[in-house]
Amino acid sequence: MIITVANQKGGVGKTDLAVNLSSHLAFLGKKILLIDLDPQANATDYLLPEKNKIKKTSADLLISDKIRLQDVVLETQIKNLHIVPGHHSLNAAQVELMNDVGMQFRLKRKIRKTKSYDYIIIDTPPSLGMLTVNALTASDHVLVPVQTHYFATDGVEKLMSTINAIKKEINPKIDVKGYVLTMYDKRNKLSSAIEKLVRKKFGEKVLKTHIPVNVELTKAPIYHKPVILHSKSSRGAYAYMNLAKEFLSLYKDN
Ligand SMILES: Nc1ncnc2c1ncn2[C@@H]1O[C@H](COP(=O)(O)OP(=O)(O)OP(=O)(O)O)[C@@H](O)[C@H]1O
Ligand SMILES: [Mg+2]
Repeated sequence: MIITVANQKGGVGKTDLAVNLSSHLAFLGKKILLIDLDPQANATDYLLPEKNKIKKTSADLLISDKIRLQDVVLETQIKNLHIVPGHHSLNAAQVELMNDVGMQFRLKRKIRKTKSYDYIIIDTPPSLGMLTVNALTASDHVLVPVQTHYFATDGVEKLMSTINAIKKEINPKIDVKGYVLTMYDKRNKLSSAIEKLVRKKFGEKVLKTHIPVNVELTKAPIYHKPVILHSKSSRGAYAYMNLAKEFLSLYKDN
């Protein structure tokens, strides 16, 4: 199963979700590959303290025909969790892809044959450019983090129309598997009001588990540790454990 985490709105918790859901799924014994397709490379920075170990990145995977998936995969501190690191050269890779006839299929061609993982999770940048299109073309499903703030659903329509265009033209199986409410502040009435609104709009597809605002989730990337290693008993880690279990329940028949 290949799942893209996408929302073209910036700072809504895409990377937090991609990293910590991946880590918790790995902790539950699933074999996970996280692909960082964002030029900001936040997921890579989050998980890999030793940047000097990084030689090849997802940019090389996209650009060079010779580079195979196994050439760019690195281990992380968590058993069962591997990562394809991102790099700012993804910006240049994106421009280069524009001249390629099969530009949407670059990532798909490189990852479709691997049988090494139960789930491949792709973190994407806050835009709907060629990198996100490559992720959506290669994926079975999409997870959409929705920040429980005002304007939360702003722009999700644009993501939906991109997904629908890709579904029609390139990848008929692609679909949103779930919306995940992020940065939920239970002391703030706005969060529950936004939750109601989002549940009304997207119905059953909004996952039951929401991710709270939690200071340990803000701190974890500073220490380059997923929250399960940084602060296992925090509310953030607890929420991600519940989210990982709910995620697996969505796939129990596959
Ligand atoms: N639940 C949370 N509680 C507290 N802080 C959070 C939470 N989720 C994310 N953050 C912090 O908020 C900031 C934005 O989150 P994140 O980087 O995951 O968003 P993003 O959607 O990936 O951003 P971008 O669009 O730039 O890729 C980060 O500093 C992150 O550590
Ligand atoms: Mg991000």
